[in-house]
Amino acid sequence: MTTIPWWQDGVIYQIYPRSFADADGDGVGDLRGIIAHLDHLNDGTPNSMGVDAIWLSPVYPSPGYDFGYDVADYCNIDPLFGTLTDFDRLVAQAHRRGIRILMDMVVNHTSHEHPWFIESRASRENPKRDWYIWRDPASGGGLPNKWQSVFGGRAWEWDEGTGQHYYHMFLKEQPDLNWRNPDARRAVMQAFRFWLERGVDGFRLDVVNAYFKDAGLRDNPPKLGLRSYDRQAHVYDMDQPELIAVYRELNALLAEYGDRMAVGEIMEATHEMVARFSGPGRLPLAFNFDFTRQPWRAPAFRRAVARCEASLAEGGWPCYVLSNHDVPRHASRYGGRFAPQRAKVAAAMLLTLRGTPFLYYGEEIGMRNGRIRHHEIQDPPGKRYWPLYGGRDPERTPMPWSAEPGAGFTRGRPWLPLNEDYREVNVAAQRDDPHSVFSFYRQLIWLRRSSAALRHGSYRALAQAPRRAQVYLREAPGQMMLVTLNFSPRAVEVRLEEALPRAAWRLRLSTNAAAHECLHDGVVLLGPHEACILEAT
Ligand code: GLC
Repeated sequence: MTTIPWWQDGVIYQIYPRSFADADGDGVGDLRGIIAHLDHLNDGTPNSMGVDAIWLSPVYPSPGYDFGYDVADYCNIDPLFGTLTDFDRLVAQAHRRGIRILMDMVVNHTSHEHPWFIESRASRENPKRDWYIWRDPASGGGLPNKWQSVFGGRAWEWDEGTGQHYYHMFLKEQPDLNWRNPDARRAVMQAFRFWLERGVDGFRLDVVNAYFKDAGLRDNPPKLGLRSYDRQAHVYDMDQPELIAVYRELNALLAEYGDRMAVGEIMEATHEMVARFSGPGRLPLAFNFDFTRQPWRAPAFRRAVARCEASLAEGGWPCYVLSNHDVPRHASRYGGRFAPQRAKVAAAMLLTLRGTPFLYYGEEIGMRNGRIRHHEIQDPPGKRYWPLYGGRDPERTPMPWSAEPGAGFTRGRPWLPLNEDYREVNVAAQRDDPHSVFSFYRQLIWLRRSSAALRHGSYRALAQAPRRAQVYLREAPGQMMLVTLNFSPRAVEVRLEEALPRAAWRLRLSTNAAAHECLHDGVVLLGPHEACILEAT
């Protein structure tokens, strides 16, 4: 029997630590807050979500220009979040509940306050000078090339002291490391080892396809786009062939520690890039962000799944995401007046497709984006591009645990405003309501946990054409599950194009409280916004 690695059939839950739970009352979430809520994530029973792992967005010391994605020390915890001792407790308490921990490794760049950069900047002769990407001005005093920063403006910053520019793909407070320097590369690998030694189970790799830039720093070809960054085709500032050797090195390191994993965030990810960078001999997993760009239409999602299934490299594994800390929450994207219904259908899809599902804190209660006024904006690109783009704060608002003041998130003043609807949309209000989004997530995940077909079975779309529904079969030796999803507010009937294998089909889960027959004579019958899962018996 082949064994399935835990990260292929597990459910992974992203925590944005600033916003999850604040134990010390300073308005910012912390590690002790997370520890206090581990039972919500998995207490071993269907009262809890039943997730297999947590991905922690960065908790390292950071001056916070990009809220932790600017790391000043890879081997410590920011006092805002706690201490290494708190971290060890988190790992131990999580492991006791069968929850694994993934660290967010942000190693394309550091903070400008990282000691490595402080040294590198000190003089041209400093041994760490070459750990970052320094260049003389072009002849005539111009910039070394035309590359632009993702967060706006040019990607080169002038350093008066040493008379050179350094490269930063993001903020000027986030200088890019030079992965071509063997000492820098070794130091980064040591940081991975530090956390593996502390017992973490894997890593989420920030902008993993940007580590290398073209050795000759050639200009990118122009293309159409709104922001200056979007007006270049990113041929030379990312996606370089040297990446594969780093992924191999990382795999070898992970293998030293057993069943550890890494999942890559590929910027501007296309299916082709996911296929190029993930699979055997490359990254174990890479996020597929296709769902974050789809309108709420069944054919759009069906095609996104078909594209993913068709493009994966041999031995590659899908990895689906609906929301994260960089994109508007899906309950807001799809929401409108049907938000809770659509949240359930979306969950049923995410958690029954072939692939590793990543959840984002709050989606289990159908949490929507918060409303952030101009003076409340914290996110640097939001400050720069408002009102064209308001930044990422709306998807990072505090987790509403209860209807009390502070939403059970904090005793103090939350670092971002609480969602206006927190008194209605919160964990406590949904816990005992059998029809809540939270109850549906729990049922779904525990059903998934018990089902080999849903966890790692094959995927086959059974109807290619319907405008309003998705119907697919998941099949593992000895088990078949039929998933039927109605994306519309009207009842639908879908005639299956292929005969279903002969079987009696038993209803395992439905969003529809009134039990009814979902399948009759090769026709799937679904109520408005119904998600329905059947098992062949
Ligand atoms: C990734 C992170 C994002 C961060 C950026 C720079 O895209 O997800 O939050 O701002 O990298 O580190």
